[in-house]
Amino acid sequence: MLRYGGDYNPEQWPPEVWEEDVALMRRAGVNLVSVGVFSWARLEPREGTFTFGWLDDVLDLLHRGGVEVALATPTASPPPWFSLAYPDALPVTATGTRLLHGSRDTYCVSAPAYRAACRRIAGALADRYAGHPALAMWHVHNEYGTVCHCDHVAAAFRVWLRARYGDLDALNDAWTTAFWSQHYSDWAQVFPPRATQYLPNPTHVLDFRRFSSDELLAAYVEQRDLLRAASPGVPVTTNYVLGGWVPVDHARWAREVDVVAIDHYPADAGPGAEEETAFAADLARGWAGGGSWLLMESAPNLIYTGGRMHAKEPGRMARHSLAHIARGSAGAMFFQWRAPRGGAEMYHSAMVPHAGPESRVFAESAELGAVLGRLGEVAAGGVSAEVAILWDAASWWASQGRGLPSDDLDYAAALATVHGALWRAGVVCDFAAPDADLSAYRLVLAPSLYIVSARVTAALASYVDDGGTLAVWYFSGIVDEALRVWPGGHPGALRDVLGVQVEEFLPLAPGETVGLSTGERGEAWSERVHLAGAGAEVSYAGGRLDGLPAITRHRYGRGATWYVSTRLPRDALGHLLGRIVSAAGAGPTVSPAPGTERLATERLATERLATERLELVRRRDGAASWLFVINHADVAQEVPARGVDLVGGAPVDGTLWLPAGGYAVIREAGPVAL
Ligand code: GAL
Repeated sequence: MLRYGGDYNPEQWPPEVWEEDVALMRRAGVNLVSVGVFSWARLEPREGTFTFGWLDDVLDLLHRGGVEVALATPTASPPPWFSLAYPDALPVTATGTRLLHGSRDTYCVSAPAYRAACRRIAGALADRYAGHPALAMWHVHNEYGTVCHCDHVAAAFRVWLRARYGDLDALNDAWTTAFWSQHYSDWAQVFPPRATQYLPNPTHVLDFRRFSSDELLAAYVEQRDLLRAASPGVPVTTNYVLGGWVPVDHARWAREVDVVAIDHYPADAGPGAEEETAFAADLARGWAGGGSWLLMESAPNLIYTGGRMHAKEPGRMARHSLAHIARGSAGAMFFQWRAPRGGAEMYHSAMVPHAGPESRVFAESAELGAVLGRLGEVAAGGVSAEVAILWDAASWWASQGRGLPSDDLDYAAALATVHGALWRAGVVCDFAAPDADLSAYRLVLAPSLYIVSARVTAALASYVDDGGTLAVWYFSGIVDEALRVWPGGHPGALRDVLGVQVEEFLPLAPGETVGLSTGERGEAWSERVHLAGAGAEVSYAGGRLDGLPAITRHRYGRGATWYVSTRLPRDALGHLLGRIVSAAGAGPTVSPAPGTERLATERLATERLATERLELVRRRDGAASWLFVINHADVAQEVPARGVDLVGGAPVDGTLWLPAGGYAVIREAGPVAL
């Protein structure tokens, strides 16, 4: 069974509406709702006084309607009584402002009173509902990510730092406090990175992010353990929020959740939304270790961008949902079930919009529910890929710091650009941690992997030595985990395996470009590269780097490495990735012309294909396989396929024809070539 539903907030409505909700959920094929995410004030109106009657009624009603519940702990939004009782548990910004309730997420995660209040409400929910027949899953909190800089946090940060470094000498060394007279002689001198006069110490800032991730995780684990103890076997999760501001290492957290669950809201209303969707889904699968995960929130009918709401075009809600499922999601869940009449997000989209069930959006919700009802068997299938992109939260965080060689070193964008080029070529890829076992991949891509430890250096070298192909982009392997530059020329940690030495960075100004021997032009970044074993595949042409290597290739052991020293625009990146993918022996999910050896090269290089926007992903379970074919283009397209289309029920005998915006999920017959 695939999960289908969304956040359900019955506390915003009178009981008569609940009856209608459940009837509509049945009509829409909803089988799971997240309940109680923001219900703290309703559940515990006064400290220690619980009012569960209404929630009993809601859960009973849902159960009678055949809808299961991801029961939330409401700890992302403490009620106003909590702020007044425990002002020390309110969050403090880096500039020292203490925030007050009035929105949500107004708490300090290190404040003992907040943690105690969380344990109390989570424990009370566990006691009351552990055995409820509607309970399918626990949904702890909502989108952990709140940071505080108060004295409670300072104390907890010091404890964390002592555990990491042991003594102040090691901390001083790691933070390079010899610079600007920052030497610490007492733990009491160490604070969270509050507002500073000028540039802060980058390692201090990075360690605070690492600490914040661990501190938030500890708060999650406290609740999880209570819930697990009360209801063994019921999965516990929390919904990840994605974004550069989020101080959470989701890969690390994945070890502590029973199901990786993400919320995903694309920021681009144009064609980029589909690439963002695939990016987030592949990331989630990476965090889930390649296994199944759950799209916990997405918007039925909204992409918020450029200061306004963009209503999704008809069919786009289904296409996005299927794209997530194709890439391993166990279902499609939305924020939210019913649009509220008031409150800060009253104009957010919902499966039941303000217009009610007689609406396009509800009709599409019901249609999607019916389709997912026919796709239950795919839930068993996993997704495998031959290509992996390395993902490292610390490199992302560090690349957001100040004092770097360029302001144009956006880690997430670097990864998305490479991932997008693969998406347009139909090459499915995983995301993997730099220290993961990479031996299953033919090709590993490392865009802007700024931090590389000695351990990761050795692991990457042995991956290549054993026959793998590694492609590395500029601003990778520059520093160790403490953000200290690997000396002797960049990229210090990877010089040997790449066979190059970078003497100096030459970042480009906005709009400035640099010529390449291919006739293409590099953007944003260039550097003076010397060959140290590698050969130049592409050189700089013109300007002060004229004739020097820009893109190199190196044989290392039984494998190969590539180094890309500038940012390539879309088409040039497509060309290059086409060569790299082909040379590594990897390729797309489906060949439009089976037997064409140069397929990967062509698909990656051709703008015509780039505009086709046909998403092809296969889920497999042993000998069984399901091919997801999603036509995001506004033209009809054909794909070679054989089997039965579970969406429409029709057999597919060699060629699948899909109208613009159409989709199919083929239970494949016969041997499947990857
Ligand atoms: C999510 C959040 C929801 C809702 C939604 C709006 O990030 O978990 O509660 O705010 O965004 O898009």
